[in-house]
This record gives sequence, structure tokens and C-alpha cells, in this order.
Amino acid sequence: MYQSQAVIGITNARKNPPLEQCVWPADAMNNIPDWVYTSQAIYDQEIERIFRGDTWNFVALEAEIPNPGDYKRGYVGATAVVIVRAEDNTISVFENRCAHRGAEFCRSSQGNTKEFVCPYHQWSYDLKGNLQGVPFKRGINKVGGMPADFKNADHGTRQLRVATRNGVIFATYSDKTPPLEEYMTTEIVEEFDVPFSGKKLKILGYCRNELPCNWKMYHENLKDPYHATLLHSFLVVFGLLVPGIKSIVFADKAHGRHGFMASAKPDEIYATVADDDKAQMRSFSDNLRLRDERFLDYVREFKSPWSANMMTMWPNLIVQRQMNTMGVRQIIPNGPNSMVMQWTMFGYEDDTPEMTRHRLRQGNLMGPAGFLGLEDNEALKFVQEGLRNSSTDNNVVKLDAGHQGTARNLISESCIRSLYQYYRDVMDIRAAEKAA
Ligand SMILES: [Fe+2]
Repeated sequence: MYQSQAVIGITNARKNPPLEQCVWPADAMNNIPDWVYTSQAIYDQEIERIFRGDTWNFVALEAEIPNPGDYKRGYVGATAVVIVRAEDNTISVFENRCAHRGAEFCRSSQGNTKEFVCPYHQWSYDLKGNLQGVPFKRGINKVGGMPADFKNADHGTRQLRVATRNGVIFATYSDKTPPLEEYMTTEIVEEFDVPFSGKKLKILGYCRNELPCNWKMYHENLKDPYHATLLHSFLVVFGLLVPGIKSIVFADKAHGRHGFMASAKPDEIYATVADDDKAQMRSFSDNLRLRDERFLDYVREFKSPWSANMMTMWPNLIVQRQMNTMGVRQIIPNGPNSMVMQWTMFGYEDDTPEMTRHRLRQGNLMGPAGFLGLEDNEALKFVQEGLRNSSTDNNVVKLDAGHQGTARNLISESCIRSLYQYYRDVMDIRAAEKAA
């Protein structure tokens, strides 16, 4: 796993309380305590209850492992796994940990193989993660070696349950996780199936970066349309998202853990923004112009009212589309103060070369240095820095107060409130009584 390169220092002890001291502030719906983002004990509990709990974790796209023997090295939460297509075309996901002495045996990020061999003592595993070979199992001249009752079948890798939908692969540690579509909920499935209709995908490239922030901040960022018009100059100047635009943000009704944020851009390239609104948006500039306006060409290819949408599927997947650039982002938690983002950009196998070129050009919006990705990374780092050592301990989420879930206006935190209501429940965190 990555070591944090963050320059921020050691977390103040008051921001790293043990679980028994983690009591949510009164008026729980409108407040988020800092320890949610900074406590090691909370992070450890998240790994157990969320990433190894009853959740489907995104691990790969089928297009990344199209042929038998193809594999990808990945993560479920912070745990290294391997995603493999076996000879019989089934997909397996198992921990990238040798059953012997624990080495991560798969070292390449992608490839094709007939078996996995641990580099340390050369124990070998088949494509489903079963132990198949132990060198000198019976010793030399029957001296040494494994006990007579040692059975390979008892010493395979830890294997996860797998589910796929239209080319997207998920894995879960839990036997109790409901079927994938039930877990996703109907409203999320409906939007998921827009880019993932079953059409064959073509992988266009990868980016990967570390963010010195807590992993949940990325979920919040994509349930937070408020920041989009204020932080992202590109969105507002070039009319992709301006105040008053048709937009929606919703959380799934069953739990509030998944989210969907979407907007429909006007047809013109340069935004028409009322002077009153401009005055509130310091990121707006009347003087910015594109050197190459093809960058914002929009080919309407889906039956969707939205020109842009960002879906968050709890706990680790983001499905992004901004006009014709599409991708998935995987959140890999890396301790309370760090996360790694893995970006996979894609198009479709039947795209024309011009369409692929267009998607790649427009792909500059995304990624760690993208015209839209860049500012989020920095803003989230600022938040983590701000709360790690401060003497005050509370975040305020009162926009659009009294509402949870769906909002059709941009100035709302209704879906962040939905997420944390679910989170308190799954993490079993009690809220303080309101003062009399
Ligand atoms: Fe953003």
C-alpha cells in the first residue's frame, strides 16, 4: 500500500479518540465531528464493518481481463486482492496474500498467467486462488517437509464472493451481502445502466494519485453540488454547471449511502451568468476563452437528460460522465488521513477513431491534474489539514436544512446528511442527547 506523502504532521491526540469516546454531537443531522475523518479507531472499524461488511466493492471492469488467464491486481478497501478470469471464463477475486508467510504474491498490476507463484517460497496457486503446489512438501528423502496431514485444500487464499453487472465486477467478503441489484437499489441501477448498457467497453487509460484526505470526503464531494459552482472555474466559465441550471442530487431511498449528482448544460459554450450570481462566485471570469473549442463538443449518445453525472456507489466506486468522457474511480482507503484514487477511463469497442480521440481530448477534464479533478484534490487536502490539529472539532452541514435525500437545487447538503445517517447506523455510533 502507499505510504502517505502528506506534509501535514502528526494528528493531534484529541482528533484520534478511541471508539468509546466517539459520540456524535447533538443535532446529529447538521453536524459532523472531526474524529470521523481523523481517528484510527474509526478507520479500523470502517474496514471491518464497511469494506469487509455487507457491501459490494468495485474491483475491476471486465474489459480489463477479457481473456482466460487475464488478471488485475486490485483492492477491496485497503486489502490487496487479485481479480482473475479463469480457464472456464468465471471471474475470481481473492486476497493477494500467500497462505504460507503472507507475501503479496501477485506483483504486476495486470497480465496473463496460468498460475500465481509466490516469489518467496514458490507456493503456487491456480486461477481461482486454490493452493496447487508446495515445493519440497514431503521434504528431501522424506526428511523435513509438511506434516502428513497437510492438505492443500485447507491452505488456499481467502476468496471473496463476486458479482458482475454489464461488465463491471464487484466483490464482497460477507455471505450476507444482498444480491448486487438489490444492494444498488433500483434508482441507482437505472442510472448505472446508462453508461453500462452491456455495450462492450474499451479501456482508454489509467491515472492514480494519492490524496491526503479521509476517503469519505470524496463521497461527500460528489454529494455536494454547492462546491461545484464555487470551486470549479472551468465548470462555471464554460457553462457546464451554472446557478439555476437543471440539476439533481439524490441518495438511494433505502439507505442513503449511494448518490447521484447530475446536471444538464445549456447549448452555448460560454456561460450566461446573472451579475448577482457572478458576484458570489470568485472563481468566475469573463475573460477566459478556450484555444480549442472542440474540447467542449458534446455528442448526445445516451437517452439521458443529463450532460454530466457523477454516481457514488458505496463504499468505493464513482461512475463519472462529463459529456463524452467516461470513467470509473475507485477509492482505496489508506489510513484515516490518506486515500488513493484509481481512475480508469473508457469508451466503447465500437467507437470510431474520431470518437476515441474526442473522448481522450475531453478526458483532460478528469484525472489528478484534470481541469475539474485538480481543485477537488487540493480542497480536500486543505480540509484534512484544517481539522487534524485545530482546537475546534465540528463541521457544519446545514445547507437546505431539514431536507434529506433528493435536492433539485445546487445549494444543498441534503445527501451528505443522508449518508451520515446511514453511516452512524452501520458504524453503531451513538449521538449525544440534545441539551435540555
Ligand atoms: Fe468538485
